[in-house]
Amino acid sequence: MSANLLDGKAIAADLRNSIKTEVEAITTSGQRPPGLAVILVGDNPASQVYVRNKQKACEEVGFLSELIRLDPDTSQEHLLSLIDDLNHREEIDGILVQLPLPEQIDEETVIERILPTKDVDGFHPYNMGRLVLRMPLLRPCTPKGIMTLLERTGVELAGKDAVIIGQSNIVGRPMALELLMARCTITVCHSKTKDLEDKIRGADILVAAVGRPNFVQGSWVKPGAVVIDVGINRLDNGKLCGDVDFEAVREVADWITPVPGGVGPMTIATLLENTLQAAKLHQVS
Ligand code: GUN
Repeated sequence: MSANLLDGKAIAADLRNSIKTEVEAITTSGQRPPGLAVILVGDNPASQVYVRNKQKACEEVGFLSELIRLDPDTSQEHLLSLIDDLNHREEIDGILVQLPLPEQIDEETVIERILPTKDVDGFHPYNMGRLVLRMPLLRPCTPKGIMTLLERTGVELAGKDAVIIGQSNIVGRPMALELLMARCTITVCHSKTKDLEDKIRGADILVAAVGRPNFVQGSWVKPGAVVIDVGINRLDNGKLCGDVDFEAVREVADWITPVPGGVGPMTIATLLENTLQAAKLHQVS
């Protein structure tokens, strides 16, 4: 039997619609719209696409959106002073520095410079720490978007075995914390993990974020599992594919996200959700 499709594209469109309605109510009441500043350093082709999509989404829901493009040889001092300016600007609620950054710039230093209430990526140690302590404020977008997808399945998460492949700061680690908060039992796998296939076979909930095209095989997946594919890999023929062998795994799983049209649109819709949340934090304070 073929799995149910977790349609991130449609769910993200729903989310954007409700955000747009809220923004209209905010501006009708005379308040300013939420504002997001996106900083892109250099000309990484994938980053350019992501940033364009984020800006388009901001415009669609009525946010103020500002894209700041910087040369690939921009100094760390220049970037930090730009962040200081944005931290002080009242109409800017969210600051997103697109990663990766060129090698002369230290990512941790840059992330820590962003005011935690403007850290709509949720990457600042303050926001990550709050997630660890089960008192989240701004939550990393991809894992939070995945939790929204999981809610839509109606599958009870408490007590389930969740396996995450990948231990990055952006996806794997915060994903583990989100699923732990939802009372799953967590296994985080990485390049040193022993018996990876066996661990994957135990997963009721599987999140693949390895960056290897079609890595997860149909025979590794537990029948009835929920499979979330975070991978976006470009094949030699120009087509996009995920980290999961979609055609094989859909015959085994109960739920599966497609690539494209699964996690990707949810990350962007969740960034809008976080920016609206940050705007509310700033308007009450
Ligand atoms: N690069 C890849 N994913 C992300 C993300 O979610 N946020 C930022 N800032 N950079 C990224």
